[in-house]
Amino acid sequence: MPDQYDVIVIGAGPGGYTAAIRAAQLGLKVAVVEKSRVGGTCLNIGCIPSKALLDSSELYAQAKKSFARHGIQIKGVDLDLPAMMGRKLQVVKGLTDGLAFVMGKNKIDVIYGTGRLGSAKTVLVKPNDGTAERTLTATKAVLLASGSVPIELPFLKFDGQFVGSSTEALSYDKVPEHLIVIGAGYIGLEMGSVWSRLGAKVTVVDVLPNILPIMDKELADGLKRSLAKQGLAFQLDTKVTGATVKGGKVTLKAEQGGKPVELVGDRVLVAVGRKPCIDGVGLDIVGLKLDDKTRKIAVNDDFQTAVSGVYAIGDLIDGPMLAHKAEEDGVAFAERLVGQKTKVHYETVPAVIYTWPEVASVGATEEQLKERGVGYKVGKCPFSANGRAKAMDESEGLVKVLADTKTDRVLGVHIFGPRASDMIAEAVTVMEFGGSAEDIGRICHGHPTLSEALKEAALGVDKRSINLPPV
Ligand code: NAI
Repeated sequence: MPDQYDVIVIGAGPGGYTAAIRAAQLGLKVAVVEKSRVGGTCLNIGCIPSKALLDSSELYAQAKKSFARHGIQIKGVDLDLPAMMGRKLQVVKGLTDGLAFVMGKNKIDVIYGTGRLGSAKTVLVKPNDGTAERTLTATKAVLLASGSVPIELPFLKFDGQFVGSSTEALSYDKVPEHLIVIGAGYIGLEMGSVWSRLGAKVTVVDVLPNILPIMDKELADGLKRSLAKQGLAFQLDTKVTGATVKGGKVTLKAEQGGKPVELVGDRVLVAVGRKPCIDGVGLDIVGLKLDDKTRKIAVNDDFQTAVSGVYAIGDLIDGPMLAHKAEEDGVAFAERLVGQKTKVHYETVPAVIYTWPEVASVGATEEQLKERGVGYKVGKCPFSANGRAKAMDESEGLVKVLADTKTDRVLGVHIFGPRASDMIAEAVTVMEFGGSAEDIGRICHGHPTLSEALKEAALGVDKRSINLPPV
């Protein structure tokens, strides 16, 4: 039976490809149906190309603004946008080619085409090469891993040119004069940073009074101040109500504190969140509906939907829409399918915003602990007290450790500063092992490293930081 598999995965993003590889490692025969390229949103039009542009634009901004402070004088720093975009594409290609190679080596059949459920056990595939529709049969599971798509505002449909999502913002052919970003979340702040560094005037509009509502407020406020210093303008508490596009300009109508305001820009990036990508996947064929409350597909501990044999992971199900969370779902799905008892610890999934400085967070925020009535102690260390940060000339920001008043167990760690994205891994590890602030404080950290700021903040929980004045 050439088209019979143990597992058929629809979607080759971080959730789908990880599930496929783990299932293949466990001895299952696996097919993945992918309508575009392997790697999904993350590798092709999300995490990876955005980080490529964030790194390139950060180097450009440093060359223009901060090299002189290090005693490096360079004249005539020019932007070569096509070369920057070309490098981004090379990064993506290297990773997607590598992934296709790894999937092949795991003997996974990648079928390029659009897949939809034919029944709980079959997937109908319309191949991209125009050949006849194929029917694949799954003996154990059909895994839905089709990810998510950007949410459009009803009065501001994507036109692929003036109004678009992150996909367009990753590939503008010239630096916008005035980029208006709707949504001060992950995408808005990251892509707003890229284009601001490259010379655009950037205005970030959000309906809420604060940026990054899910993050620790002290850190979100710090990031806002920093981005404002870098040149981003914020128009918060502002609800966009309408828009017109004329003569290459977009005019947005909005309300701020009950008063009408108008914004005019040449590009608009709508970044107000994402929703499950389920159009055409055939949920109706098997009688599956989205959960009324979460607007996601409900699953049990095995990631099985309400339909026996049909499973879902990643952005399709509850939880943060993050690539690394989808990967953990994928591993747990495959291992549970063969009878293992794997469980994802969602409370220790870190969140990272790759602005500069970066923000990274794991566990509860102060606001959440107050709301839950949990007693906690706080330890902080500003990067201005960290030798390595000073040496790097990157001393903006702080590390905050929140620990249980009674047990000292670490409840949350929040970092705003240089390479917070890499530093958060230590906090995640400690929390996974149920560690205490004292544990972090007693672990020897290399000197001088940024990670010492975490140690100092952890010591601060017990008011015994070494490199900070007593509080
Ligand atoms: P988001 O959920 O991070 O932020 C959306 C923002 O839009 C919120 O601040 C919200 O208040 C605002 N908003 C919603 N409706 C609005 C309206 N009508 N007018 C003005 N503001 C409005 O969503 P975002 O940035 O689009 O990202 C989507 C997903 O992609 C996120 O869930 C995130 O997990 C993922 N992502 C993760 C990244 C990372 O891990 N670094 C990077 C980029 C995306």
